[in-house]
Amino acid sequence: MSGDPKQTTEKPKSAPPSGNGAKNGDANEESLLDKTREGVEMLKRDPREGQLWTSVFRHKLDDSPRNRSLAVLSNVFLHLHPAKINRDAVRYSFTWGMGGITFFLFVILTLTGVFLMFYYHPTKGQAFRDILYLRHDVPFGNLLRNMHRWSAHAMVITVWLHMLRVFMTGSYKPPREFNWGVGVLLLVLTMLLSFTGYLLPDDQLGFWAVTVGTNMARATPLLGHEGPFGSQLGMTAFNDIRFALLGGSIVDSNALLRAYIWHCIGIPIVASVFMIVHFWRIRKDGSISGPAPIMLAHEFKGWSK
Ligand code: HEM
Repeated sequence: MSGDPKQTTEKPKSAPPSGNGAKNGDANEESLLDKTREGVEMLKRDPREGQLWTSVFRHKLDDSPRNRSLAVLSNVFLHLHPAKINRDAVRYSFTWGMGGITFFLFVILTLTGVFLMFYYHPTKGQAFRDILYLRHDVPFGNLLRNMHRWSAHAMVITVWLHMLRVFMTGSYKPPREFNWGVGVLLLVLTMLLSFTGYLLPDDQLGFWAVTVGTNMARATPLLGHEGPFGSQLGMTAFNDIRFALLGGSIVDSNALLRAYIWHCIGIPIVASVFMIVHFWRIRKDGSISGPAPIMLAHEFKGWSK
């Protein structure tokens, strides 16, 4: 088609808009040509020099140490990671990857938990039926439930292993004592998430676990009616910490509702806030501690054979 001489020499079919015809038509044609030329020039230009590109990427991309640092620092997600890290400190043989895996499991739990909430009602008559419905009728419901349950079991294990690693590498020592403290809170919150989730299926396992667990709360010092100084402070079975946890004096519908609200709203929000503090603090403490630097014999001043 483009080889057809007739077509290339043909004038535009549309008539000029006003009466003073040919002159205006020529001007239009010229400005159209100019615009086309401008467009072609624009296409030839490197898009990385355009305004749009530089509004997104505010630094050059040539592979230099400075540009690599800038790429990390000027990106909202990447900047959560330090621009420079000690290679030995992030080795799996040092960290066991356990903190990262614990966080990954928390993300999976949050996502699968939100989907479970679409099907679950925290009421005595309905809760266990919803579990059966999820297991047998909801498409991928059993997979969803088991992903949540197994990730929860795994998170409890990995958080303990993470704590063990931090202890074994002495990473709780100054300047990281504060972050160790934040970690202890995260450990308690992880256990509480696990405990409150246990009751939600409202099956025998959960019911008796929570019965035993909350019975122990009776013996809390000061706050439990059977605990040290509890009765002196006026604690009874109807106003102590166990009563507050259960919303009553037995494990019943109020306890289910309270467990649900703590499990799905209260504890995840508090845990997320402390995780943000935990991660921020790792950076402020000079990144992950890392193994002690290896000294060669000739670098050690007091060395003598
Ligand atoms: C929800 C629970 C937790 C999450 C998601 C979490 C996450 C992390 C991550 C990703 C790191 C970076 C290094 C690594 O992966 O090992 C880390 C470091 C650290 N965590 Fe945790 N952590 C949790 C609980 C704990 C607990 C229970 C403790 C101790 C009681 C703790 C104390 C520390 C300390 C002291 C560091 C710095 C370690 C170093 O510099 O070598 N964390 N945490």
